[in-house]
Amino acid sequence: MPDSQLTLARTGGRELDRIVYDEAAIAARVAEMGEEIAHAYPRDEPLLVLGLLKGSFIFLSDLVRHIARPLHVDFIVASSYGSGTTSSGVVNLLYDPSTSLEGKHIILVEDIVDSGTTVSRLLPMLAERGPKSLEICTLLHKHIAANLVREPRWVGFDAPNEFLIGYGLDHSEDFRNLPFIGSL
Ligand code: IMP
Ligand code: MG
Repeated sequence: MPDSQLTLARTGGRELDRIVYDEAAIAARVAEMGEEIAHAYPRDEPLLVLGLLKGSFIFLSDLVRHIARPLHVDFIVASSYGSGTTSSGVVNLLYDPSTSLEGKHIILVEDIVDSGTTVSRLLPMLAERGPKSLEICTLLHKHIAANLVREPRWVGFDAPNEFLIGYGLDHSEDFRNLPFIGSL
C-alpha cells in the first residue's frame, strides 16, 4: 500500500493537515537523545526511566533501546480534570509505581510539554520520594508554559503551537498509532 493510503487506513479516512516530524526525523532524534542520556549518568548508579502514560509509550519504547546502559522502566498514570481542552490544574495519580525512587536517578518521560501543568504538579510529588536526581525528558516542547517548575533537561523537538497527533499522542484517544507526528 502507498504511504498516503496507509495513513488513511490508520486514521480511518481522516485527512491530516501536514506531517510535522516524519519517521526518519523522529528516529534520528530519539537515537541522539538515548546516547546523550546514556552518557549523562555514572554507569554504576541506578537509573529509572519513568514514563507518563499514555502519551509517552511509543517514545519511551524507542528511547530506552538507545540508552546503552543498565536501567529500569516503570510508568505512572496521571489524570488532569478540566473542561475539554483547558486543564484545571488538578493532577491526580491514577497509577503510582510500586518501584521505590529513593536514591535513584529518575527520568520522567513525557510526550509533550504544553501548558506545563502536568510536569509542574508531578515533579514535586516525585521529588518527595528522595530520588538522587530527577529530570524531565520530553519528545516535544511547545515553549508556551508560563510557570514550569523545571525546564526539561532533554527535549526532542521545539514544537509549533499546534495540536499534534501520532507517535503516541492522541486526540480523544485516536491517532496514537501513526508512526509520524502530524498536525490536525
Ligand atoms: P500540559 O499539562 O498542558 O503540559 O499537557 C500535558 C499533556 O497534555 C500531554 O502529556 C499530552 O497528553 C496532552 N497534550 C498537550 N498538548 C498536546 C498536543 O498538541 N497533542 C496531543 N496531546 C497534547
Ligand atoms: Mg493525551
